[in-house]
Amino acid sequence: MRRDLRGRVVLVTGASRGIGRRAAERLAKLGATLALTARSADDLNKVVGELKGLGARADSFPGDLTRPEDRERIVAQTVERFGQLDVLINCAGVCSFGEFSTSSEEVVRKVLEVNFFAPAEMIRVAAPHLTRSFETSHDGWRPVIVNVASICGRWGIPSMSEHCASKHAFVGLTESLRAEFQRFGIDVLLVLPGLVRSDDLNRHLLRNEGKIHLDFEGAQPSDEVADSVVRSLLKNRAEAAVGFASWWVWFGKRFFPRGVRFFMQRKVWKYARRHREREGSA
Ligand SMILES: NC(=O)c1ccc[n+]([C@@H]2O[C@H](COP(=O)([O-])OP(=O)(O)OC[C@H]3O[C@@H](n4cnc5c(N)ncnc54)[C@H](OP(=O)(O)O)[C@@H]3O)[C@@H](O)[C@H]2O)c1
Repeated sequence: MRRDLRGRVVLVTGASRGIGRRAAERLAKLGATLALTARSADDLNKVVGELKGLGARADSFPGDLTRPEDRERIVAQTVERFGQLDVLINCAGVCSFGEFSTSSEEVVRKVLEVNFFAPAEMIRVAAPHLTRSFETSHDGWRPVIVNVASICGRWGIPSMSEHCASKHAFVGLTESLRAEFQRFGIDVLLVLPGLVRSDDLNRHLLRNEGKIHLDFEGAQPSDEVADSVVRSLLKNRAEAAVGFASWWVWFGKRFFPRGVRFFMQRKVWKYARRHREREGSA
């Protein structure tokens, strides 16, 4: 199967920067019509300007996806402006890096709110429009939801407990809906990036207090993840682990789970040893 996106209306969340922005650029080149959302209206408008420069139809509908009224409005404005909704890409997200014991209820609730409840409810709001897209198509077109989760949704990474919890919930929801939505003709796809280089790490991380070593600077470029999002859409790939680290964890979990567990524990032991040494020399 190869999905034709020409003239199809794609709503991308988290489109002001990072993976969402890069995915929107690629989809514009494929002839899709883009509805972009995130909180920062100025950043979104810049992206819309660029997409229009590429000859695409595009508009921005800023909003905070944790607010029910914003979710309803964003979907309604998309349909009002472009007449239909054919694809939803759930890309907005935040991360928290640090130990669970020194975090707070506020942080875990915030991460779950953005990474799980917001996309879950976006799907609920968008589903009737996606169903209509299937019912009114005469060329075998299948509408689609792409959920950009994380390899953290397949394996718990130390010092990312809140993020992992939110992404596990999101992966579970994706798998349930993949079966459930078949009767509406909607495909539900999952993309699992590993560590990705951020445009703005301070905005991406709600909290940056982790002590284990994670190479945020040397991580995978968001362009590669955006390529994978588009490939998943075009080829209707049910699940894609993106990048070597993500693929390694995905593969290792299936075939060498004790090896992956050991690797994760070793990261914490290393940090704990450094900590002890520092205390000893003080
Ligand atoms: N970066 C990584 O290492 C990594 C790894 C695996 C998976 N992922 C996942 O990939 C997705 C994209 O990540 P990224 O690296 O591109 O992150 P990013 O550069 O920080 O972009 C996140 C996007 O989400 C939007 N957003 C955040 N909170 C929002 C809210 N309450 N309402 C509406 N929009 C909101 C941001 O825009 P505003 O700030 O303007 O609202 C921004 O456009 C996320 O779901 C993330 O969990 C990332």
